[in-house]
Amino acid sequence: MEIKIRPYTTADAKAIVEILNYYIQNSTALYDYQNRTKEQQQAIFDEKLQKGFPVIVVTINERIVGFGYYSEFRFREAYKFTVEHSVYVAPNEHGKGIGKVLLQKLIALAKEQKLHTMVAVIDSENQSSISFHQQFGFEIVGTIKESGFKFERWLHSVIMQLLLE
Ligand SMILES: CC(C)(COP(=O)(O)OP(=O)(O)OC[C@H]1O[C@@H](n2cnc3c(N)ncnc32)[C@H](O)[C@@H]1OP(=O)(O)O)[C@@H](O)C(=O)NCCC(=O)NCCS
Repeated sequence: MEIKIRPYTTADAKAIVEILNYYIQNSTALYDYQNRTKEQQQAIFDEKLQKGFPVIVVTINERIVGFGYYSEFRFREAYKFTVEHSVYVAPNEHGKGIGKVLLQKLIALAKEQKLHTMVAVIDSENQSSISFHQQFGFEIVGTIKESGFKFERWLHSVIMQLLLE
């Protein structure tokens, strides 16, 4: 099993939306209700790339098994050293170190880009992602209660932060 990491290209979008749409339909990891199309996802990533933010993928034997990215946390100028990131690993590929490869790379890229802090916004039911982030030094700095509503229930957003320097 050879785990490789590389920058995203538009040809990856089909495999990526399959992973995303699984979590949209089956979890609160994403707060979307509707599946995304390949074209919608390409447009989302194009915008991030045009702004100089990274989008990366992990493959095993050329098959996409995970991806991650970061971009601006909020849009006002003073937030320019803060980014919000996400990582997703295909549902049948958890626990193989793929998320670790992705998050380590995003942290390294953020340091290279001289950013100051990374923020993850994680649904409070997603304990595996909270534990995963704690392994990398992210701390819970707050919870926005009842900030989401999905599957007929209120969801709470846990904010986790890593200072990079
Ligand atoms: C969270 C997620 C990215 C973790 O990816 P992964 O490839 O399964 O994680 P890894 O195998 O790289 O694990 C790295 C470390 O994180 C921790 N971790 C990962 N999953 C965990 C879990 N379910 N419970 C507790 N700790 C966990 C472990 O400590 C692990 O370290 P170890 O190798 O010493 O055991 C993955 O479960 C996922 O894609 N979940 C669904 C989508 C999602 O929630 N994304 C995050 C949105 S903010």
